[in-house]
Amino acid sequence: MLYHNYCSVCHGDKGDGRSRATGSLSTLPRDFTSADSKRELNVERIAAAITHGRPGTAMVSWKTQLSETDIRLLAEHVHQTYVLGDSRVQVTAPAAPISGTKAHGGREADAASTSAQVDMTAGLPNGLKGDFKRGGAFYLANCATCHGARGDGAGPRAYFINPKPRSFVADVSRSSFNRLALYAAVSEGRLGTEMPAWSKVTTPQQMADVAEYVFQAFILARQPLAGPATAAR
Ligand code: HEC
Ligand code: HEC
Repeated sequence: MLYHNYCSVCHGDKGDGRSRATGSLSTLPRDFTSADSKRELNVERIAAAITHGRPGTAMVSWKTQLSETDIRLLAEHVHQTYVLGDSRVQVTAPAAPISGTKAHGGREADAASTSAQVDMTAGLPNGLKGDFKRGGAFYLANCATCHGARGDGAGPRAYFINPKPRSFVADVSRSSFNRLALYAAVSEGRLGTEMPAWSKVTTPQQMADVAEYVFQAFILARQPLAGPATAAR
């Protein structure tokens, strides 16, 4: 589902603007369920926002990533489900693989080895571009102590921590963390766990760099997994 791939990281699973990303944004994402939105947002305006973005905010233009048809469908979906509040449309149920979403990615191989539920081609928020090398250095200095140099969650400090640091090479991580999700997770941390909210101590660029590194080094990594994904071939 396009919404969950591209939008929910900021606008929230329920379209109400509550998400883990909000803490890292200076302008808050629109709450589609508010009275203001009911008054102001029609399908046209939503489509325009997706196409052109909102200058000076985290709402970037999706023109290069989504086809016109996708944008139209997405605008209708947002309008129906959140603005008008038609709850018959599935909100949290796992999305069925949508074959149409592959058109712009060319990543069929990834989609096949993951659940095809999350679009692994989704970029970072705010138009940020992560630098893999700088991200790697940052990762080793700040993350490896918990998540392990190999991203397997077995860093030296992991032993003392509960819940355990996330393994980025586990199948479940590989099928659910795209760049946006990593960025949001790094930025917001996890309340009640040892995972810090890095937005308090780092810049968006550093978070983008490390998200890019984790994504490429662990999530997308091509090394054979010991899991069913490889056994199947
Ligand atoms: C990285 C965060 C982020 C992502 C991802 C994001 N948005 Fe937004 N969005 C925002 C912010 C911030 C605003 C508020 C901008 C403003 O107030 O001008 C906004 C505003 C909007 C608006 C209201 C525009 C208006 O005319 O007032 C719509 C509609 C919208 N987003 C739709 C979407 C859709 C659909 C997606 C997925 C393709 C999406 N957004 C992805 C952050 C995001
Ligand atoms: C002090 C230990 C510690 C450090 C340092 C740390 N993490 Fe974590 N991280 C955790 C723990 C514990 C969890 C698991 C939280 C849970 O299961 O809910 C986690 C979870 C995550 C997640 C998944 C969040 C989710 O939604 O499940 C990501 C992504 C992540 N960390 C990235 C990083 C990155 C990148 C760094 C370095 C910038 C980092 N972490 C540094 C302990 C740490």
